[in-house]
Amino acid sequence: MTSWSDATKVHEYVGRVGRLEARKEGERELVEVLPQRVRHAIDLGCGDGRLISLILDARPETTRVRGLDSSAPMLELARNRFADDERVTIEEHDLNFPVAEPEGTAGTAGADVVVSGFAIHHLRHERKRSLFEEVVGALHPGGVFANLEIVQCATPELDAEFQRRIDRPGGDPEDILAAVEPQLEWMRDAGLVQVDCNWRWRGMALLVGQKPA
Ligand SMILES: C[S@@+](CC[C@H](N)C(=O)[O-])C[C@H]1O[C@@H](n2cnc3c(N)ncnc32)[C@H](O)[C@@H]1O
Repeated sequence: MTSWSDATKVHEYVGRVGRLEARKEGERELVEVLPQRVRHAIDLGCGDGRLISLILDARPETTRVRGLDSSAPMLELARNRFADDERVTIEEHDLNFPVAEPEGTAGTAGADVVVSGFAIHHLRHERKRSLFEEVVGALHPGGVFANLEIVQCATPELDAEFQRRIDRPGGDPEDILAAVEPQLEWMRDAGLVQVDCNWRWRGMALLVGQKPA
């Protein structure tokens, strides 16, 4: 069990992140890399569904979105947010375990885009790497992986300054941060191409790759 099962932490987070200018910038960049046509999308560690809303606003023709998260209070917020939207399914799933297609959809569930927002840094590095391979397996050829993420700053001092600026002094003891470069390598190793860090502000980065067409 992680601290994300704590409703107080979840509500504090949800109230704080929407006010962060840098986050909004990162989200604008994420929208920029969405494929022109999105039918199926997946959000890994979807939280209250903030990124799913961004996708649906930017690509209203989207027919199906899966949001995965393990936190009960986050799942409740996301389910409430999309209660009237049949396109969205919010699933309880621990990302430490393989991400599989829902039963009965094998072969039909390929995603045009897999997104994640500030979630994968909670996983051990080995699991980050195997998750990137699963992302490639989940994408259609040509599909996009866009991971808006907390990354390791170059020095502890820079990290402390970053945490101060996002109003989180001391950081989060559950973070397992990796620097940008190794993560880009892991994404390439997983089979993604056109891999790059498209945007960065201090300890926030948008890591993007594409499944070969
Ligand atoms: C910082 S919040 C980000 C939420 C949302 N993606 C956003 O962009 O605002 C981190 C999210 O990752 C989820 N998370 C952390 N570890 C997880 C795991 N092992 N499996 C599934 N979700 C996890 C938490 O429950 C939480 O919703």
